[in-house]
Amino acid sequence: MKDREQKHFDRISEKYHKASDSWKIIYEQIEERINPLITDRVVLDVGNGGMFAYDLDRPSRILVMDVSVDMLSSISDARVTKIVSDARDMCTIENDSVDVIIFVLVLHHISGNNLHESIKTLEGILSEARSKLRPGGHLVVAEALLSPILFRVQKWCFQLTRAILHRLGVSMIFFCTQAILAENIAKVFEINYQDIETTDLNLEGWLDPLGGCFPGLIKIPVSMQPWDFRLMIAKKTSYDNH
Ligand SMILES: C[S@@+](CC[C@H](N)C(=O)[O-])C[C@H]1O[C@@H](n2cnc3c(N)ncnc32)[C@H](O)[C@@H]1O
Repeated sequence: MKDREQKHFDRISEKYHKASDSWKIIYEQIEERINPLITDRVVLDVGNGGMFAYDLDRPSRILVMDVSVDMLSSISDARVTKIVSDARDMCTIENDSVDVIIFVLVLHHISGNNLHESIKTLEGILSEARSKLRPGGHLVVAEALLSPILFRVQKWCFQLTRAILHRLGVSMIFFCTQAILAENIAKVFEINYQDIETTDLNLEGWLDPLGGCFPGLIKIPVSMQPWDFRLMIAKKTSYDNH
C-alpha cells in the first residue's frame, strides 16, 4: 500500500506542484489560523508534499514527513528537515517531542483494503500523531470531507473505485465525513467532540479536484465540488503512555 502511494506521488510530483495554485486560498486561511500556534514551536508536517500552509520563519524547528522523495525534492530551505517515511509508522520521531502536528489534505490518501480498515488506519495515524505530541501540543488537520449521503455512495463503490484506481496505477483515496473524523480525533485524544476547534475553509473560483491523482485533468467551479473543506484543531491534554 505504502509503495503504491509512494510511486504514485513520485510520478505526479511535478504536475501536482504546477496544479497547486487552486489550493492557495486554503493555505492562506490555514496559515492565518496556525501561525500563532506554531511560533517558537517544533512542527511536524506529515504528507507535506513540498507545500507549506504556514510561515517558515515562525517554528523553532520544522520536520516534514512524506512517503514520496520526489514530492519533497522542491524543498531546499535549510530550516526544514526532511524525513521520508510512512505516516502509519512514525517511529523515526521521538515520543512527546513535537508541539504541533499538521496534516494538510493528506489523510484521504491513506486508506486500507476496505472501509473498516480505512477507518482503523485513520485511527492508527491519529494515535501515532498523539504519541509524538508533547502534552499541550496541537493536532492540526485540514481535510476534504463528504456529506453522509456521499459517504454512503463512496462506501458502496469502495471496491470498484479501488479496482479502477489500482488499474490506473493510482493510490486509493478515501474521504471521511466530518463526524467520522471528529469522532476518531475525540476518541484518540480522549477529548469531547466539542473540544475540537472546527473551521470552514472557503474556496472560490475554479478547483483542480483531482490534483492529488490526475493533476490538471479537470477544473470545476467551486460551487460544484462535492467536498466541504474543514480545519480541525485538537489539543493533547495530558501526559500518559499512549
Ligand atoms: C495531496 S498531497 C498534499 C500535500 C500538501 N500537504 C498540500 O497541502 O498540498 C498528499 C501528500 O501526502 C503524501 N502521502 C501519501 N501517503 C502518505 C503516507 N502514507 N505517509 C506519508 N505521506 C503520504 C503524498 O506523497 C503527498 O505529498
